[in-house]
Amino acid sequence: MRMWFKIIIFAYGFLVESGYADELDTCSLAAKGSPHFPANFSFGVATAAFQIEGGWNEDGKGPSVWDDFVHDHPQLIDDRTNGDVAVDSYHRFDQDLAALKELKVNFYRFSISWARIFPTGDVSSKNQKGIDYYNEIIDKLIANGIQPMVTMFHYDLPAEVQKNGGFLNSKIINQFASYAKELYKLFGDRVKTWVTLNQPLLYCRSSYGYGFYPPQYLNAGVDDYICMENSLKAHAVAYHTYRTQFYKKQRGKIGMAILSKFFYSKTNEQDAIELGLQFALGFQAHPLFAKSGGYPEVVASNIAKNSLKEGFNKTRLPMFDEKWRKLIKGSADFLGLNYYTSAFITRAKDKSKVLKPSWENDRDCDESVDPNWKIAKSPWLLCVPQGLEGLLKYIRDEYNNVEVIILENGWSDEENVEDNGRISFIKSHLQAILNAINDGCNVTGYTYWSLIDAFEWVRGFTTRFGLFSVDLSSENKKRSPRKSAGFYRNVIETKMIPDKI
Ligand SMILES: *[C@@H]1O[C@H](CO)[C@@H](O)[C@H](O)[C@H]1NC(C)=O
Ligand SMILES: *[C@@H]1O[C@H](CO)[C@@H](O)[C@H](O)[C@H]1NC(C)=O
Ligand SMILES: *[C@@H]1O[C@H](CO)[C@@H](O)[C@H](O)[C@H]1NC(C)=O
Repeated sequence: MRMWFKIIIFAYGFLVESGYADELDTCSLAAKGSPHFPANFSFGVATAAFQIEGGWNEDGKGPSVWDDFVHDHPQLIDDRTNGDVAVDSYHRFDQDLAALKELKVNFYRFSISWARIFPTGDVSSKNQKGIDYYNEIIDKLIANGIQPMVTMFHYDLPAEVQKNGGFLNSKIINQFASYAKELYKLFGDRVKTWVTLNQPLLYCRSSYGYGFYPPQYLNAGVDDYICMENSLKAHAVAYHTYRTQFYKKQRGKIGMAILSKFFYSKTNEQDAIELGLQFALGFQAHPLFAKSGGYPEVVASNIAKNSLKEGFNKTRLPMFDEKWRKLIKGSADFLGLNYYTSAFITRAKDKSKVLKPSWENDRDCDESVDPNWKIAKSPWLLCVPQGLEGLLKYIRDEYNNVEVIILENGWSDEENVEDNGRISFIKSHLQAILNAINDGCNVTGYTYWSLIDAFEWVRGFTTRFGLFSVDLSSENKKRSPRKSAGFYRNVIETKMIPDKI
């Protein structure tokens, strides 16, 4: 008896200390204020072209860097799957549409494969069949009361564009803007929400700094920063092209998708929290939304300081001149936020193991996680809903309460249909958004990643994020609703979070 008593006291103390005394499920969040989403709040789901379409070389489509990568390096994909067929959405959009209708979503975020409509990347190489495919998607969505939200670039750069250096060549700026301009011409009469680039810091670091993604360059702390410079410039030119040439008639809005965690400190190191936020959110959002524009001061100064220490004769971070700083500043109508997880952060202790130069070394911090946080199938994905609330409040205070649309948020598991873990994740993150809205944050939409199971890049199909599972072995790649699909539909119908699931 005594022993049990001690264990209970110990466990209770532990829970109190970690802040979860009355909340045994760490993937949950208490409500603050009204349980209702504003009437104009919209709900959607997302996918991306390479991850679902397949039809990789059909009807005149050109190859993308990801087609080449999965063909040249099948061993780098966990289950050796690829995007050749993926879940065959190129032939099965009607099945996706049925799933969207079942969810009753307000909008569908999907991406356009640049090389499907411009096989070489150049707008002179028009492929009508690719254009027809996206026209059909857009028209069918609208006919069913679902707003199309289009991502212009979600990693699948045309292989021909990569041959010229991709995002390392400043030619990408006008190439991307010309592509964007064609998209406005082709689809802008019906598409009213555009997302230029998906998570530039992630693809720049993965593609050019670490080689996890094509073109597998390994020049951390240098080429990833050049990629960021060209990405932000390309975004800004695409934005201004719309505002000056199309906005008057088309009246849409344009943003960029920014991935960030929120950060906590066990030892109250405010400087570490600030470094964490500025090297993630700030690296991408500060140039667009901060009053001063340009990169955050701590990002610029840390990189400059390290560069000189490492023997470079100037900073490795390409700094925007006055013209570009002004052009990029304000070049977005909303902040697109991709939020998955958060971390604890401290100033770096042992710097000997960190690659130099690199973004990690420039940030000069170490991350860790709370062992109580619930973990998804993806080892990097821990359920930290309070982090989303924290990040939204930080954005409110830092960027003048700019409109925020959550463009991605999702949970991975196995092929199971009884996905209670996903329901807890969605429920707690919607609660975080509602709490933030009740505290004055300007959040207008939520997008769950993903509608259906998708090819998750180098993880292949080993991690599943879909509200609908896809039976890859079935001939028609059958989509079946998981339990979470019913939960999400209920939220969308009632515009509130149900007590019980
Ligand atoms: C949405 O509704 C809220 C009130 O519920 C209002 O404050 C806000 O301005 C509206 N936003 C838009 C984009 O209409
Ligand atoms: C700085 O270094 C680069 C190459 O690293 C070189 O091309 C350039 O001439 C150098 N500039 C100065 C002022 O030394
Ligand atoms: C929310 O964002 C929109 C668009 O940027 C802006 O017009 C509106 O004033 C913002 N609302 C608040 C409460 O700041």
